[in-house]
Amino acid sequence: MKGLILSGGKGTRLYPLTYTNAKQLIPVANKPVLVRVIESIRDAGVDEIGIVIGQTGPQIQEVIGDGSKQGVKITYIPQESPDGLAHAVKISRDFLGDERFVMFLGDNVIQGGITQLISDFAKSDWNSQIVLKEVENPTAYGVAKLRDDGSIEQLIEKPKNPPSNLALVGIYMFDPSIWEAVNSIQPSKRGELEITDAIQWLVNAGKRVFPHVHKGWWIDTGKPTDMLEANSLVLEELVPGIAVDATVENAQIDRRVTIESGAKIINSVVRGPTIIGENTIIENSYIGPFTSIYHHVTIQNCEIERSIVLEHSTIADIGTRIQDSLVGRHAVVRRSDDKPKALKMNIGDHSNLWVV
Ligand code: DAU
Repeated sequence: MKGLILSGGKGTRLYPLTYTNAKQLIPVANKPVLVRVIESIRDAGVDEIGIVIGQTGPQIQEVIGDGSKQGVKITYIPQESPDGLAHAVKISRDFLGDERFVMFLGDNVIQGGITQLISDFAKSDWNSQIVLKEVENPTAYGVAKLRDDGSIEQLIEKPKNPPSNLALVGIYMFDPSIWEAVNSIQPSKRGELEITDAIQWLVNAGKRVFPHVHKGWWIDTGKPTDMLEANSLVLEELVPGIAVDATVENAQIDRRVTIESGAKIINSVVRGPTIIGENTIIENSYIGPFTSIYHHVTIQNCEIERSIVLEHSTIADIGTRIQDSLVGRHAVVRRSDDKPKALKMNIGDHSNLWVV
């Protein structure tokens, strides 16, 4: 079996963080979502993985390389423009050949991995397996309508009037019958070759498509609020630990805290679940639960909770607690006593700033 990860696309819903960076590389609990996806596929015993890349391909290649760090062999498959998930499958034909494969969207995070799903599919005579999850806002996803006997009746992409609350999770398994399906469908109204249409084609052709309903959590990290939610859920499952070369001086560190190599925590309180990245400095500060501070960050004289701070940023001397925030790379947030006393900002396009 082979693996296919879709990591093209634009990531506009995560602007400004994704202006210059691939959305799949934004870390959740200090590990890029894409690395989490690769590890789930690897842990299920699949080590030959193709990654479909678009405009942000060079950054993805720089971070992931040939996959040897994760113990897998990566082949990159360039997609000229994001013409749909089924289009991404179509252009991966040479890589996939006639093998069965698992396709995983590079921005999805799922509880419990996919080992059981892959072993169920490998043992079965199903032509395809899809994963469904009950959600509160089905209009944001592909949606499945099941018959009373549990079989699939209909799949619709982002319906205005959803026929059920069962969303399609971004994990799919296929056998070679998918090739006829992706070659038979036409672009949707939004101009994309939809994977939901390809799977509907399989269903209509009488192929066996098994719908697995996932019981654990699942997050599509498309929006900033989803990133914070995914971060909290992953942090809760992280096995905590303090690196031997981390420095902790006059600090209160909760049980559920991970401190990575070279980090320094001085005169501070850190409550878990929280992760502090490599070579980050936390001084005279409070870091509250559900916070991920990435590498080479400096935080001084601040209180911060349920937030994600990306690499090489500085947050200093802020009098108000920072909460539910996403701070991008190389950002500076600091108090200024310069006259005139005013709020001064230099924030990027599509940024949000909520002032109290
Ligand atoms: O997350 C689950 C949802 O993912 C499903 O419920 C939907 O049925 C499915 O269409 C998809 O919807 P999204 O709107 O979330 O798809 P998005 O455009 O964010 O793309 C998902 C991933 O696939 C992302 O990592 C980018 C990549 N991609 C996307 C397109 C359209 C490609 O590599 N190539 C593409 O052409």
